[in-house]
Amino acid sequence: SKRIVVLISGSGSNLQAILDQTRTGQINGSIVAVISNRPDAYGLTRAEQAGVDARLLDHKQFADRESFDQALVELIDSYSPDLVVLAGFMRILTPELVRHYHGRLFNIHPSLLPKYKGLNTHQRALDAGDEAHGCSVHFVTEELDGGPVIVQASVPIAADETADSLQQRVHALEHRIYPLAVEWFCLNRLALTDTGVTLDGEPLPITGFQ
Ligand code: GAR
Repeated sequence: SKRIVVLISGSGSNLQAILDQTRTGQINGSIVAVISNRPDAYGLTRAEQAGVDARLLDHKQFADRESFDQALVELIDSYSPDLVVLAGFMRILTPELVRHYHGRLFNIHPSLLPKYKGLNTHQRALDAGDEAHGCSVHFVTEELDGGPVIVQASVPIAADETADSLQQRVHALEHRIYPLAVEWFCLNRLALTDTGVTLDGEPLPITGFQ
């Protein structure tokens, strides 16, 4: 059974979705710690309520990104995780940290990557007049939001769509695909190679989820 550390900055609804599936046994692993860079992150409360170590590492207490990330690596590694999951962790990571967790660091991003890396993804999809929008789980590499995609889910954009309504529908999809990717990892079904990522040896991403 795998050891999972989850990093958050906010509500932690994706954390909750993964936590729930570790509890039902759908995911062959357990969350051993939740780490937030923000003291007010509701996800810390979710962790406490589940009896999981909830740790605060406030980036404002550090002089620069390098020293924060060094402390973060130390804290994460004190839990000996097999997998580190970014779930609404709103910090850019140093290349050193990313390399340290090569092949065992996941992120979820609210767009159909490679579209709309960065912020304000829902509004940008609307402004572009896109027919569909969605979310992606990917391995983290040194390129921001640019690592190989594991699984994506999409929703059609309706005529009267707003950034808010789109955000809500995409969020609901995130709660389905993030636990799924974690489940695959915990069964050793994923592989990250020089040419991309595979599930049971077949090239990914899977994009069929609606
Ligand atoms: C999610 O929508 C996630 O995709 C996004 O933050 C939200 C966190 O929600 N992540 C990013 O924008 C990463 N750049 P949650 O705290 O309820 O899981």
